[in-house]
Amino acid sequence: RAGWPGLINAYRDRIEIPRGAEVVTLHEGGTPLVHAGRLSAATGCDVWVKVEGANPTGSFKDRGMTVAMTYALASGLKAVICASTGNTSASAAAYAAKAGLTAAVLVPSGKIAMGKLAQAVMHGAKILQIDGNFDDCLELASKTAAEYPVTLVNSVNPVRLVGQQTAAWEVCDVLGRAPDVHCLPVGNAGNITAYWKGYTSYDQGLPRMFGFQAAGAAPLVSGQPVPKPETIATAIRIGSPASWTGAVTARDESGGLIDAVTDEQILAAYRLLASSEGIFVEPASAASIAGLLMTAEDGRLPKGSTVVCTVTGHGLKDPDTALLGTTEVEPVPVDPGAVAHALELA
Ligand code: F0G
Repeated sequence: RAGWPGLINAYRDRIEIPRGAEVVTLHEGGTPLVHAGRLSAATGCDVWVKVEGANPTGSFKDRGMTVAMTYALASGLKAVICASTGNTSASAAAYAAKAGLTAAVLVPSGKIAMGKLAQAVMHGAKILQIDGNFDDCLELASKTAAEYPVTLVNSVNPVRLVGQQTAAWEVCDVLGRAPDVHCLPVGNAGNITAYWKGYTSYDQGLPRMFGFQAAGAAPLVSGQPVPKPETIATAIRIGSPASWTGAVTARDESGGLIDAVTDEQILAAYRLLASSEGIFVEPASAASIAGLLMTAEDGRLPKGSTVVCTVTGHGLKDPDTALLGTTEVEPVPVDPGAVAHALELA
């Protein structure tokens, strides 16, 4: 949006920052809420998609990072650290570059989508690969920040969630009220916690919160941590969510649900959203759409509901998954007749 000042300035009366602090912003937030005609027809609901891939680094993490980095800069410490499945590290790296701080990112070896790694590299982060999963990385980052002069910018840092709740406010601002149901993917569970905090603090009505985890990484569904989480949706490959209680509170207070969707459901929704709505997201983001389709089908999503699905990250983050299987590229001679033939126009 032209003239959009970034979310701290847009919601200055609602977001507290340290007195005299310089705001670190890349003009995040103000993302599109797109009406999804085909998903609406398929589900019998009025479906809207909150496109968080339109943020500066291509994911919703920028909402929390502008606030976290503003506090980090004001603190006087020169470095920030985070654990990440990829998007938090891309965002931390970019905002640290903007703030003139050093970023260190701890990532699980071999499970980061290519685009996210490219971002951390380009923004000059110190990338440390851990022989372990995200949960191990987060534990290590937290311990390091507790003992050394470096600010932890994971969502366990409460100011991250203060920034992320703005997405709920924006939804209410556009729709004129809260939706009936809000679907979103759940990994470390910070975002569902932040949305619920956002809705409950905004006085525009309350949606039922529908959270969806990947079936191979669904501790909130089984009720216990998953020691070896596995899913193609690497962003939400998390076995021990830091905001466990926040997620359960959002579910229970809103009369919502948290359920699991399989990798097959995620990939089907991923392709459907790109090919029928023109919105290319990364696999983890498609968990919200997979959950929408599943609950519409089994009747848990009432017909006629106004539903918002958050899609958390851009599809270009993970080109490898997009190109899995067939690459539908057809060689054609340099000849209009051949092109017309290939398009079945002649
Ligand atoms: N979708 C995407 C694209 C993500 O990157 C994440 C989390 C989630 C959904 C889940 O959000 O953790 O608040 O429940 N990514 C973190 C990261 C873990 O390191 O980038 P959540």
